[in-house]
Amino acid sequence: MSEHLKSRADAAKTSFGFARVGEEAKQGLVNEVFAKVAPRYDLMNDLMSGGLHRLWKDDLVAWLAPPRSASPFALLDVAGGTGDVALRALRAGGSGASATICDISAEMIEAGRRRAGDAKLGFVRGNAEALPFAKSSFDAYTIAFGMRNLTHLEAALAEAFRVLKPGGRFLCLEFSAVEMPLLDRLYDAYSFNAIPALGGLVAGDAAAYRYLVESIRRFPDQETFMHLIENAGFERVRYRNLSGGIAAIHSAWRL
Ligand SMILES: C[S@@+](CC[C@H](N)C(=O)[O-])C[C@H]1O[C@@H](n2cnc3c(N)ncnc32)[C@H](O)[C@@H]1O
Repeated sequence: MSEHLKSRADAAKTSFGFARVGEEAKQGLVNEVFAKVAPRYDLMNDLMSGGLHRLWKDDLVAWLAPPRSASPFALLDVAGGTGDVALRALRAGGSGASATICDISAEMIEAGRRRAGDAKLGFVRGNAEALPFAKSSFDAYTIAFGMRNLTHLEAALAEAFRVLKPGGRFLCLEFSAVEMPLLDRLYDAYSFNAIPALGGLVAGDAAAYRYLVESIRRFPDQETFMHLIENAGFERVRYRNLSGGIAAIHSAWRL
């Protein structure tokens, strides 16, 4: 791995937003954030993004294009939280589609279960860096706004590769690097001021939302993340920017 890639992957291990924390501490702090915001998570997503996250998740599922036939199609949605992506994929897919959410937070899973009702959705508590599934179990792996919360990106990508069947698809939706000069300044002003303020008002926790904004800035940019995916063994790695690079979707295949 190049020095640049290694240093970007290493940075994720010790950054909790802009604060530097020990490698063992990061996951515990991330878990505290999601335990606190879980009951208001869906509402906050809508408020913070003006509903944009819904369109980005629609784009993710459109690119995934789950088969509409009755043939089996097993999706694993990692860091799936309250089920936004998995529920969309089930709606888009045929009768053979099934979805499993794997998330580390009991509180987020609880909020997801309440919301999913009787949809064909399985919930498993587990860590993206050590997935509790056998190798070659899934036809597709999705992760939306989860990757930047992880401590070891290479471990998570290796796990994605392991649990996918040969011919399986990897898709990651994540905040990314804004590539338009005016938009990046507007976006900075909005996210560092309005988002923590909204978090304080609606979820009662400005600090948790400050972490979310800062973690976005520390995540590798589009090209760097593309190379990390390639290094995990994936092929045909591509990405698409959404809303000027505020978010990006990376797609890859385990061939
Ligand atoms: C920003 S939320 C995204 C939820 C959902 N995918 C969405 O797009 O709305 C991030 C999720 O990552 C989960 N998470 C954080 N660290 C994790 C880990 N190591 N393994 C699995 N899930 C993790 C959190 O519990 C939280 O539910």
